[in-house]
Amino acid sequence: MEPRELLAAAQEAQLQAYAPYSHHPVGAALLGKSGAVYVGCNVENASFGLTSCAERNAVFQAVAAGERQFEALALVTPRAGTPCGACRQVLREFAEQLPVYLARAVASGTPNLERITNLATLLPEAFGSAAVHPEGDR
Ligand code: THU
Repeated sequence: MEPRELLAAAQEAQLQAYAPYSHHPVGAALLGKSGAVYVGCNVENASFGLTSCAERNAVFQAVAAGERQFEALALVTPRAGTPCGACRQVLREFAEQLPVYLARAVASGTPNLERITNLATLLPEAFGSAAVHPEGDR
């Protein structure tokens, strides 16, 4: 799947973001190995610490649907931001090498792809499942 297509799904999810406190809407789209796309948006809360990030919401959607292997992540944010540390670690549970497309939202039309990076770059020397459970049962 082209980055452009995955970014379009992330942009749609961004439109659903519930971000009345930060005014920082985030949309994520995660491409599963099966070809299915799982999306998430940030969902904030009046009790700020309960806010849930777009990336983690997308991962949890995928896992609940039975998908645990991923090909790429597309993110649409106001300034082409990277995933937060917590989301990097949650993504790392299911992928070591994961292309990450970072796009800036634009008022209308398709988001601007500004950079392609990789989860391995964003989270070097990661703590992963092998450190806890070398046999693994993922
Ligand atoms: N946010 C995400 O959804 N993903 C990230 O990786 C960073 C931050 C959200 C959380 C909060 O709703 C808003 O962006 C500002 O931090």
